[in-house]
Amino acid sequence: MTTFASIPVKKTSQSRLSDIDFTKLEFGKYIADHMLVADYKNGQWHAPEIVPYGDLKMSPAILSLHYGQAVFEGMKAYKMKDGNISIFRIHKHHERLNKSLARMCMPEVPHDLFVQGLTALVETDHDWVPRTEGSSLYIRPLVFASEARLGVKVSDEYKFIIMTSPVGPYYSKPLRVKVEEHYVRAAEGGTGFAKCAGNYGGAFLPTQQAREQGFDQVLWTDAKEHHYIDEAGTMNVMFVLDGKLITPKLTSAILDGVTRDSIITLSHDLGLPMEERRVSISDLAEGFNSGKLTEAFGAGTAAVVAPIATINIHGKDYQLPQAGATSFQQQVKQKLHNIRIGAEADEHQWNHIVRIA
Ligand code: COI
Repeated sequence: MTTFASIPVKKTSQSRLSDIDFTKLEFGKYIADHMLVADYKNGQWHAPEIVPYGDLKMSPAILSLHYGQAVFEGMKAYKMKDGNISIFRIHKHHERLNKSLARMCMPEVPHDLFVQGLTALVETDHDWVPRTEGSSLYIRPLVFASEARLGVKVSDEYKFIIMTSPVGPYYSKPLRVKVEEHYVRAAEGGTGFAKCAGNYGGAFLPTQQAREQGFDQVLWTDAKEHHYIDEAGTMNVMFVLDGKLITPKLTSAILDGVTRDSIITLSHDLGLPMEERRVSISDLAEGFNSGKLTEAFGAGTAAVVAPIATINIHGKDYQLPQAGATSFQQQVKQKLHNIRIGAEADEHQWNHIVRIA
């Protein structure tokens, strides 16, 4: 059996770090100097290595381009107060990656390859982790079918790559979202829970149309009735309704968000009652009319905690109050930040520490 105890590092001779303006980080614009690459062939993953980030030479016949076997993760690493780096919830992301891979009939990535590979990569590019509050090193693990063949088949070959990117906030202002009642992101039994590339490609047209109508994002509803809220495509959604944190209960059509899961745990610590349940459009409309819907926000690795200012239901805009410092979303966002940078105890063991000498 292959083990991944020590991963060779080929360092770049031309770091791009000094070209980066860390005060103007657009999401995903800059990719750090190195990437991890591993190949799957003959039924197993082979020797990973860390190499300078750059283009790959690939055949246009690789199966992922045609039949969609491509799965990714979104994670973040933070600069801690003591100078070390924390990779947030590495094991939970690894678990989710493997669930996505299983759904797409792709080989799992072994735990030690994922954890040791990512640790070594973050160590190598530790100077790329931003230091300012609200910024972090976004981590993008990716697995795709790399066998060149036109027949419709499960690929026998794959590439696992991890690249990283220093990022600031994903959304710069509170969001206007539209409840989508025509298009469908995912149906039960489909691939909605998996972080596969096609889920994002399929959402582009409806999202673009919503943007043309003045919205930032679509609030996806269930495929059968268009009556229950699923998620927002780039993030899960959460509400404070009648003094309780409410979020759509996971189904096979909803991504099992790591930030969502963390906020659910922290809601217990912060003493806010919480419920994972079906959330209907009527629940939201009634909550607005009675004044009991006091907060709505998105939760995701890229989005972190993204306030929602307006929800458009059946063509009508409903407005939420501005989320002040005592709102649940601001409190939980601050708590998450404090845990990640080591300013508060990491009681749930979420930080994977990369020690920087
Ligand atoms: C993430 O939150 O990491 C995502 O993958 C969502 C999106 C930015 C692709």
